[in-house]
Amino acid sequence: MIHDFDRPVARIAGTGHATGTRILTNADLEKMVETSDEWITTRTGIKERRIVENGVVTSDLCVDACQQALDEAGVSPHEIDYIVLGTVTGDMKFPSTATIIQSKLKAYNATTFDVSAACSGWVYGIEIADSLIRAGRADKILVIGAEILSSMTNYNDRKTCVLFGDGAGAALLVRSNDDRGFLSTYTGSNGDLAHLLICEGGGSYKPGKNRDIPSEDFTIYMNGNEVFRHAVRIMDHAALTALEKARLSPEDVDMFIPHQANIRIIEAMKKRLKFPDEKVFVNIQKYGNTSSASIPTALDEAKNQGRVKEGDVILVAAFGGGFTWASAAFRL
Ligand code: UT7
Repeated sequence: MIHDFDRPVARIAGTGHATGTRILTNADLEKMVETSDEWITTRTGIKERRIVENGVVTSDLCVDACQQALDEAGVSPHEIDYIVLGTVTGDMKFPSTATIIQSKLKAYNATTFDVSAACSGWVYGIEIADSLIRAGRADKILVIGAEILSSMTNYNDRKTCVLFGDGAGAALLVRSNDDRGFLSTYTGSNGDLAHLLICEGGGSYKPGKNRDIPSEDFTIYMNGNEVFRHAVRIMDHAALTALEKARLSPEDVDMFIPHQANIRIIEAMKKRLKFPDEKVFVNIQKYGNTSSASIPTALDEAKNQGRVKEGDVILVAAFGGGFTWASAAFRL
C-alpha cells in the first residue's frame, strides 16, 4: 500500500528500547563455530550482540521499552487505545504477545495484536497505527518491534549465528496538532521469495509435536547471498518511495535510519542515496541484526545521543523475511 499525506496526523511522542544483557562478542563466536572476528567484521559490520538471560521473554523487553516511551510522553497505560507488536518470536504461539504486554502494563483500554512481517514488523505497525489515528479510530498507540532471535538461532550454523541479537524498541504514536508526524508510509511484500529466509518449524506445516522434524527446521535458514542481493535493491526502492510520497528529496532528510542487517547494505544505500556519513545512523556493531527491533532501537539511541532532535525529518526503511519491506518519512 502506498500512502501520500498532505498533513501529518500522527506523531511519535515517546520512544524506548531494551536489549538482552549478555554480550556475545565475535571472540565468543570464534569459540563456538569456525569463524573469525575479521570475517564477521568485514562481511557484516557486527562486533557484538545482546542476548537475553534464560527466563527473559519478548514481552519483558517490550514492557521495559514501552514504559520509557510512556514516561517520555507523560502518558499513562490506561490511555492507550492499541498495542501493536511486530515480532516473529513472541512469548507463545498464542495469545498474542501484545496481549501479554497489555496485562503487564495494565493497559486495559487497549486493543492488542501482533504483526508478523519479520524485520519490517515495526514499520508495518507504524503504517497501521498511523492509519488508525488518521481514520479517527484511535488517539494513542504503542508500536513495538521486538525479537528474541537467540530463541530460534542455530548456534552451530556459522552462516546465521553470527548475525542476530535480542532486543525491543517502542514508539508511542499520538494525534499531532502541529507539523510533526508521518509524512508518508509505504509497505510491500513478495511471498514467492519466502524460501530464501525462513523458519519452517513450529506451525501447522511442521508442527513441534512431530518428532521426525529435524531440529534445524525450528531455527532460521537464510540464503545470505540471495537475500543480500534483493535487500539492497528493495530497500533502495522502499526508501525512495517513502521520499517520493512525502514529496521530499534525500537532501531534505536529517537522518536516515535503515534496518540494521549488514553494514555493506547500509553503505550501498548511503552511496546510492548520496547521504553523508553523519546523516545515516548505524548501531549494528553493538546489537547485530535484531529484526523488527532494529529501527525503533536505533531511533531511540539517535535521540538519546542527540543525533536527532524535535522537528528533524527522519527516513526509515526495512526489509525482511517474506519478503516484506516498509518505509516511512516523518518529522520528529
Ligand atoms: O534482516 C533481514 C535481511 N537480512 C539480510 O539482509 C542479510 C543479507 N545477507 C548478508 O548479510 C550476507 O549475505 C551474509 C553476512 C549473511 C553472508 O555474507 P556473504 O558475503 O554473502 O558470504 P557468503 O554467504 O557468500 O559466504 C562466503 C564464504 C563461504 O565460504 P566459501 O563457500 O566461499 O568457501 C561461507 O561458507 O564465507 C563463508 N562463511 C563464513 N566464514 C567465516 C559464511 N559465514 C561465515 C562465518 N565465518 N560466520
